[in-house]
Amino acid sequence: ETKGYQLTDDFLWGGAVAAHQLEGAWQEDGKGVSIADVMTAGSKDHPRIVTDTVQDDQVYPNHWGIDFYHQYPSDLKLFADMGLNCFRTSIAWTRIFPNGDETKPNEAGLKYYEDLFNECHKNGIQPVVTLSHFEMPYHLVKEYGGWRNKKLIEFFTRFAKVCFERFHNQVKYWMTFNEINNQTNWHDPHPLLQNSGLILEDDDNWEEAMFQAAHNEFLASAQAVTIAHQIDDQLQVGAMVAMCPIYPLTAKPEDILKAQRAMEYRYYFGDVQALGEYPQWLLNYWKRHDYEIDITDEDRQTLKSGVVDYIGFSYYMSFATEAKGQTNELTFDEDHDLVNNPYLEKSDWGWQIDPVGLRYGMNWMNDRWHKPQFIVENGFGAYDQLTDDGQVHDDYRIKYFHDHILSMEKAVVEDGIDLIGYTPWGHIDLISASTGEMKKRYGMIYVDQDDLGHGSGRRIKKDSFFWYQKVIASRGKDL
Ligand code: BG6
Repeated sequence: ETKGYQLTDDFLWGGAVAAHQLEGAWQEDGKGVSIADVMTAGSKDHPRIVTDTVQDDQVYPNHWGIDFYHQYPSDLKLFADMGLNCFRTSIAWTRIFPNGDETKPNEAGLKYYEDLFNECHKNGIQPVVTLSHFEMPYHLVKEYGGWRNKKLIEFFTRFAKVCFERFHNQVKYWMTFNEINNQTNWHDPHPLLQNSGLILEDDDNWEEAMFQAAHNEFLASAQAVTIAHQIDDQLQVGAMVAMCPIYPLTAKPEDILKAQRAMEYRYYFGDVQALGEYPQWLLNYWKRHDYEIDITDEDRQTLKSGVVDYIGFSYYMSFATEAKGQTNELTFDEDHDLVNNPYLEKSDWGWQIDPVGLRYGMNWMNDRWHKPQFIVENGFGAYDQLTDDGQVHDDYRIKYFHDHILSMEKAVVEDGIDLIGYTPWGHIDLISASTGEMKKRYGMIYVDQDDLGHGSGRRIKKDSFFWYQKVIASRGKDL
């Protein structure tokens, strides 16, 4: 057993969730319909689909989540028992602005989060909040075409302002858009919809639409940063990127160059949000492809003055790529250009397990963006077995966390990276975002419920619960 490094007392040890994946109560207290509410159940072989309305013959797991909406007081006690001093969740936009385009917020929604955050503080836990985590109002998709439409900037910033004004005394750390860079995989309709509310036709240029939608999100995010600081200069507003480092498969120079461009492509989001400008290679790329992204001088100014305070990121896995026969233009297509890394094992869902990549990714971002970092997701989705005497022996999950936390601690102590905290994903079992399954479990707390929402809903501490409790109590030393 390897010992870890002890981290400082102010380091945040937490857990992370998103509203739509655990709250349920999809129609309560005036909530509107979000994208997640019209997304059906899927599996690793069957993608989730979006139905235009809620249909009787379909299954929508986000409608029930794990009933956190009602059970949060007892769940928070469990989190406190684990030792968490922070808890990352999101505010469901549709609880505050049910359709997204109203001018007055829904008081019942605001009150709900006020109570939730109060309850967190009572348990010694500070909430960390994402404003948009794959749950935009579906009305904005249908009526406005999602984030391609610049009107959404106004709607989002109104939502952000209402939240900052109401919760600034309760919440210090905020993030604007969850895993904003997932949409670089624009060949797949799922991330385009989850990130940006885009439903595209075959003859649309999907890549160009993605760049425009992302630009509008950058503007909304930058304005939100500025608004937050005006309301309360203590507020910290971060970006949120999904960090999956992309390695070259070999030392062949062409492979190295390919991997470099792949990284630049997948993470230009961080360049814009942390440095306030687009990289030149991307401007050249747009020009060569005849893309006309609507960016004004005023936009450029907005991006510059609203750079984020820190980089929040998720880390689950790494990727690898090779140049193949690519000759003239260096491009990256996440659908076709990723290859198997022969040095790594995979989870049952095919995610490559790579603790070293976490440290690599942190150093890469630090060298480039020079911002404090916050690991706001990390974890291992697996099939768990509940034993007859009500236990879950998830040694595979403990191993995953052990190796990743050790790698993170090396990045902090040996490499000197300024890291705010660590919130493992889905520390309580919840609905999977990509597949809608319950059986893809990440938790250290088991929830007795199946893919159809059947079960007692009982919460059960897994072996990893007790392990993480020790880690936190020793501030990272006792791994
Ligand atoms: C990230 C998301 O993609 O990873 C979460 O921010 C998601 O919402 C998590 O749940 C794990 O992915 P999945 O698809 O296994 O639930």
